[in-house]
Amino acid sequence: MTATLTIEGLKVAIGAANVLRGVSLEVQPGEVRGLVGESGAGKSMLGRAVLGLLPANASVTAGRIAFEGRDLLAMQEAERRNLLGRRIALIPQDPMTSLNPVKRIGGQIGNLLRHHLGLSKRAALMRATDLLNEVAIREPKRVLSLYPHEISGGMRQRVLIAMAFACDPALVIADEPTTALDVTVQRQVLQLVERLRLRHGSAVLFVTHDLGVVAKICRSMTVLHAGRVLEEGETANVLVRPRHAYTRALLAATPRADRPAEALRPVPPDLTDQLWSEAHRLDQVPAAGAA
Ligand SMILES: Nc1ncnc2c1ncn2[C@@H]1O[C@H](COP(=O)(O)OP(=O)(O)OP(=O)(O)O)[C@@H](O)[C@H]1O
Ligand SMILES: [Mg+2]
Repeated sequence: MTATLTIEGLKVAIGAANVLRGVSLEVQPGEVRGLVGESGAGKSMLGRAVLGLLPANASVTAGRIAFEGRDLLAMQEAERRNLLGRRIALIPQDPMTSLNPVKRIGGQIGNLLRHHLGLSKRAALMRATDLLNEVAIREPKRVLSLYPHEISGGMRQRVLIAMAFACDPALVIADEPTTALDVTVQRQVLQLVERLRLRHGSAVLFVTHDLGVVAKICRSMTVLHAGRVLEEGETANVLVRPRHAYTRALLAATPRADRPAEALRPVPPDLTDQLWSEAHRLDQVPAAGAA
């Protein structure tokens, strides 16, 4: 079976600074893989590299990204853009800045459907109504006629989730889709992602720094720190028998229902400092096999 996403030895630099230092990971069809790590680990950069949306000053300096066996980095720009939003979709971190503030919700969903699926205006409107129903938005017709600022943050995130799954993508990259939301809404959003990915048969790369979320919805997980993979595997195995000290520290810092809040231990700064210096030291060493 061809993996949905294969990343091998991916290095990304912003100017002289390395942000991904040889990352490898796979996402199988229909799988949900968690990508966890603290702020600055490079989680969003990884997602953006897959989507072909790296910032202008960033570049891929080594490695390979394949989507369903096709090399994304070798692909023509137009071909790659055509995958975006259709076969590979994004649920972004910030629902406010990800919708166009001066366009009605209906127009934005409609454009996507007409562009990627070639639907007529009328068919797109009907499909958009269905999609909002799918994400449990009441009065979908009314919501389609509103502007993003006229609906709540939770609703905006639902709209973005609906848009991400609209074209039955093979892969959805969810970049901390619940961070900006309060706890109740977070839970609803997680359930939605779970329901939609099953219905649409999509694999998901779920970016988060919350191991609780990973335990709930991810079959496999990758722990990223300073642009390096420290540990990966089936979630059940990694969480029960973490091999890396950093994963153990993350676990000790994660609230759990069966543990009093006092038992929480923040990740020791010494450990993260040590890992950062390790990463910087590795930057100085030429890669094995390099000329
Ligand atoms: N536009 C940018 N220009 C320069 N450096 C950037 C830019 N965006 C991110 N970086 C740097 O790249 C590194 C990785 O950032 P990234 O956004 O991928 O982290 P992250 O794991 O997604 O963190 P968070 O959990 O805070 O979202 C960080 O050191 C960050 O400072
Ligand atoms: Mg991020």
